[in-house]
Amino acid sequence: MPTELFQHPPHLPLIAPSILAADFAKLGDEAADVERCGADLLHVDVMDGHFVPNLTMGPDAVQALKKSCGLVLDVHLMVSEPWQFIDPFCKAGTNNLTFHIEVVPGGLAVDLIKRIHDLGCTAGVSLNPDTPVETLKAVWGVADLILVMSVHPGFTGQQFIPEVLSKVQFLRHELGPHQRLEIDGGIGIRTAHQALSAGADILVAGAAIFRNPQRAETIKLLRGDYPR
Ligand code: DX5
Ligand code: ZN
Repeated sequence: MPTELFQHPPHLPLIAPSILAADFAKLGDEAADVERCGADLLHVDVMDGHFVPNLTMGPDAVQALKKSCGLVLDVHLMVSEPWQFIDPFCKAGTNNLTFHIEVVPGGLAVDLIKRIHDLGCTAGVSLNPDTPVETLKAVWGVADLILVMSVHPGFTGQQFIPEVLSKVQFLRHELGPHQRLEIDGGIGIRTAHQALSAGADILVAGAAIFRNPQRAETIKLLRGDYPR
């Protein structure tokens, strides 16, 4: 199994800027810039206009981003039919591929995870703010990562929904030391602290990083790397 997500020292949070909030006229430069600024992963939001009311990027964009930076590519599929897209995204250079449990019944989710592993990627499973954590039961033993959405997916720049923190706390106890717990949506300095305290260890941040001229400083602060 690929290990990119797990090479980092345990308990040191990883920061994953979401390219959705970058300047789309220069995506490659934006990816390279956050790499220079200390990011660990690049989060790529894929939307189909059906599962969420927005359209974004496909496998060609992932392939181009792979050439532009050396970051681990963390692809978040917000699509109604993820099984159609596993192969093209894994072959495009994805490192971790995450799909949503709302569109995949438990048994099929386990099959999708196996297919993602066969293609050389780690596999994540995500759930929306209104989705009960129990829907993940079939997968939380086999997924490499669980992604808790802290906004209703579709757009960058939304407000963090604090009620999801109880799911993060619950999942932290269920997951083993080799499974990552990611949170996505409305993460800034204050909410990052709340998410880390609840047990998250990968923080996705779009607007807080890409719409901020102090990117390196912000990444450090999100990580909890405060000046002493
Ligand atoms: C929302 C996406 C997020 C989003 C995060 O549907 O999954 O990854 O880009 O953006 P911020 O951090 O601005 O909420
Ligand atoms: Zn996302």
